[in-house]
Amino acid sequence: MNILAVESSCDETAVAVVRDGRTVLTDCISSQVALHREYGGVVPEIASRKHIEAIYGLADQALETAGLTRNEIDAIAVTYAPGLIGAVLVGVNFAKAAALAMGKPLIPVHHIRGHIAANYLAFPELKPPFLCLVVSGGHTMFVDVKDYTQMEILGTTLDDAAGESFDKVGRVLGMPYPGGAALDKAAQLGDDTKYPLPRSRPGENPFDMSFSGLKTATLNLIHHAEQVGEELDIPSLCASFSAAVSDTLIPRVVMAMEKTGYRTVAVAGGVAANSRIRQDLMKAMEPLGAKVYLPPLSLCGDNAAMIGAQAYYEYLAGNLADMSLNAYATKSILGEAL
Ligand code: KG4
Ligand code: ZN
Repeated sequence: MNILAVESSCDETAVAVVRDGRTVLTDCISSQVALHREYGGVVPEIASRKHIEAIYGLADQALETAGLTRNEIDAIAVTYAPGLIGAVLVGVNFAKAAALAMGKPLIPVHHIRGHIAANYLAFPELKPPFLCLVVSGGHTMFVDVKDYTQMEILGTTLDDAAGESFDKVGRVLGMPYPGGAALDKAAQLGDDTKYPLPRSRPGENPFDMSFSGLKTATLNLIHHAEQVGEELDIPSLCASFSAAVSDTLIPRVVMAMEKTGYRTVAVAGGVAANSRIRQDLMKAMEPLGAKVYLPPLSLCGDNAAMIGAQAYYEYLAGNLADMSLNAYATKSILGEAL
């Protein structure tokens, strides 16, 4: 089954063709990152307008590079939530029009389910059940992936997402948007014990976490140094910050593995590219004898191939939409309104 998948929830317009949820025939992306960098973050109005300009040409390019005609496409999939509402609407409207014009089924896909499914593309042998650490720009959570379309959230951030705090600290340190990757690079040369930063303490649900305390403590440290004219050791601050994020995530992954009894863990989302988190996870899983799936960096960030992968399993489960499909800025991974 060939699925044409569309993703436009943030600052990447993307169209892919994926066969049977596992084989990427083509994965076309038009990134707006350079455009938004000027403003230090995504400007929603500009994002929507750029999606409108790019999406039709990108879909044509996807068919051409996949070597398929419109008749050889069996269904249209689209990210319908969550994201910048104006941006998501562009993809949803395009997908609805394409499905109607081509007479094909329309498959709505939750963006975070797509991030998890990126692992199915990278690892053909991976099948649920497994635990997934989701760490993206807007989401941080531990997901019990019981089956392809059946999931449970064990815990989530109660305030900022991990990626958001990476970006905020990166921005204050003068790094280009989005700051996560640059901060990670700088951290390679630093001493992670130089700046003691707070770790999120377990709350009522021990799997829940908070990153706002860490973010505020880091920003205060930077501003205080500026005020008193103290020169900061930037690589060590980046290393200390990355260690604090990792120390918030990894012990909870260990707990989640113990709770579920799983011996398989996957990572998903843009922050899954973080080298400290990757290393610490490998280290922590070794004594458990757990298999760790770390998707390649190209599949960690936003793309449409991951949407096409999840769409196949949503289709098999009968999760289709009609022409009344709407876009949502927020929606739980379980499909519930937030
Ligand atoms: O998953 P994603 O593309 O966006 C959402 O769906 O929200 O993730 C983007 C996030 C940004 O916050 C970016 O700074 C972060 O992923 N990121 C990283 C790294 N590479 C990208 N954060 C930390 N370390 C990295 N190496
Ligand atoms: Zn994403």
